[in-house]
Amino acid sequence: MGVAKSGIELIEMAPRDGLQSQNSRVPTRAKVAFIEALSETGLLEIEAGAFVSPKAVPAMADSFAVFQKIKRKKGVVYSALVPNERGLEEALKARVDKIAVFTAASETFNQKNINATIKESIQRFLPVASKAKALKLPLRGYVSTAFFCPYEGKIKPEAALKVCLDLLDLGVDEISIGDTIGRASPNDVRRLLDLCLKKIPLKKIALHFHDTYGMAVANALAAWEEYGVSLFDASSGGIGGCPYAPGASGNVSLEDLAFAFEASGGKTGINLKKINGALNKISPYLEKPFSSKLRKLS
Ligand code: HMG
Ligand code: MG
Repeated sequence: MGVAKSGIELIEMAPRDGLQSQNSRVPTRAKVAFIEALSETGLLEIEAGAFVSPKAVPAMADSFAVFQKIKRKKGVVYSALVPNERGLEEALKARVDKIAVFTAASETFNQKNINATIKESIQRFLPVASKAKALKLPLRGYVSTAFFCPYEGKIKPEAALKVCLDLLDLGVDEISIGDTIGRASPNDVRRLLDLCLKKIPLKKIALHFHDTYGMAVANALAAWEEYGVSLFDASSGGIGGCPYAPGASGNVSLEDLAFAFEASGGKTGINLKKINGALNKISPYLEKPFSSKLRKLS
């Protein structure tokens, strides 16, 4: 409580978390145009793809081509998901600026998502992390289902903390704690942060809220105002959903979250008009309307 307010960094998830669950193919050129337009909005980091099995997530199969084709803006970090050594090799060839490994606090979700137990996933990440470290490539670790699992229900904060600590031992620079099915409330967030902040430096924590129950803005504001968390994942337009979390909606809309922070005295550096312009590049290819409230006003 009583943590000084500070600048906030919003990390763009739309090209990866947003587009990964699209059934119809989004042309690579549309993804490229979208990412290039997002690069002009004040964002400092864009998760632009995933080097995962194309059988598991067909919508990310063109990630290599996307990374090859985008004109990169100086100062913007273009990151990608990497599930294993094979993914790392591809990501390196694609000149990714930062990689993210991903596991979960729930065994069932992890099995369905990456076909591994939590322990196996950490083992699988060991060579990925050591190579990333040797190459001085920034490394993020995701903990999915940190609050609720679509198969196992409520997850104990202690279980989520354990996976966060395993990732820290692996040497990740940052941990993104995920509310994969968008079910957490501010009290769940407080319970987990009370525990995590005893063991994990504040600056290493990012929060990744999906917005299924409409709680994500409240959760992010609580984490920022009460604990000083300043790194938040979000998806422009609120695009998305996780293919392995049935019914879960996209990440919190980046523009709605930026609006909420700015209205509460925070600084995000995001140009909302330009986000709206970037969304125009991708809207013709999306299956669902944007869930963002600001977009509906535009
Ligand atoms: P597996 O079947 O156990 O692995 O999958 P495998 O090594 O036996 O390989 C199976 C096939 O995939 C083989 O091809 C491999 O070559 C290929 P086949 O011989 O059958 O033709 N393969 C690959 N292809 C391309 N790139 C690779 C790669 N690795 C293997 N890197 C694996 C394990 C992890 C690979 C698979 O389950 C997978 O790719 N899963 C990805 C799942 C995913 O991307 N989920 C969505 C992202 S996570 C998320 O959204 C949550 C998050 O947003 C946070 C939150 O909200 O909580 C991050
Ligand atoms: Mg997600």
